[in-house]
Amino acid sequence: MIGVFDSGFGGLTILRDLQKALPAYDFLYLGDNARAPYGSRSFETIYRYTLESVRTLFARGCPLVILACNTASARALRSIQQDVLPFEFPDRRVLGIIRPTAEEIGKFSRTGHVGIFATAGTVSSQSYVLEIQKFFPNLTVTQHACPMWVPLVECGEGDTEGTRYFVKKDVDALLAADPKIDTVLLACTHYPLLTAAIRAALPPQVNLVFQGDIVAGKTVDYLHRHPEMDARLIKGGKTAFLTSDTAKFFEKGANLFGMKDISAESLTF
Ligand code: DGL
Repeated sequence: MIGVFDSGFGGLTILRDLQKALPAYDFLYLGDNARAPYGSRSFETIYRYTLESVRTLFARGCPLVILACNTASARALRSIQQDVLPFEFPDRRVLGIIRPTAEEIGKFSRTGHVGIFATAGTVSSQSYVLEIQKFFPNLTVTQHACPMWVPLVECGEGDTEGTRYFVKKDVDALLAADPKIDTVLLACTHYPLLTAAIRAALPPQVNLVFQGDIVAGKTVDYLHRHPEMDARLIKGGKTAFLTSDTAKFFEKGANLFGMKDISAESLTF
């Protein structure tokens, strides 16, 4: 199976695109719902929680794990890849969602000015700025943290007047910081659920970029380039769900993210 990890429900927006791009593959999704959100937690805590989740997915038989969470990718991926995998799991792989997005984002912009909405943890890690510089050194990147957005989504307030007010405030702040921005990246897995409010607040000429498509396309490429990994993945077209909260909590919340009629298994670390 391909393991897909997120702090909670947000990774379901990435899973949906992975399932579309790789319909024959089996996926095992793990949401650390009992400890979400990660966005404002310390580096040490995000690393510890993410590593526990990755170990769980490995133990359940996933040779490949995708961190479908920007905060975990920003805070934990590099340490897991450098300090854990070579010593404990040399035949397993963990991929994040920041680098694949950074490889593509510059292609959407004509002005060379890009804006990024993300959690406070992702913004302060500077991961996007550093990764994007490697691929598009001339791009001007302006980040803006939106700590209100994840709770608004999780409370089912995705498209309400109150949400539109807060979203517009953040959009205006980003564009005031750099009025030349013509491309905005949603660098948090929850934010696609705020698309209507974000689109309404953005000038029509500004592109809105979603990660799901990009990550799915890059995963397909990765599997073409790594047939030895591809051969280890089960192709039964099934998806199973694990959560650190109760199964009922996950099943109900997943509805908001478009995953209907699923059943989840509850686990403790
Ligand atoms: N999934 C996280 C991300 O993409 C957002 C939710 C959280 O803060 O845990 O950054």
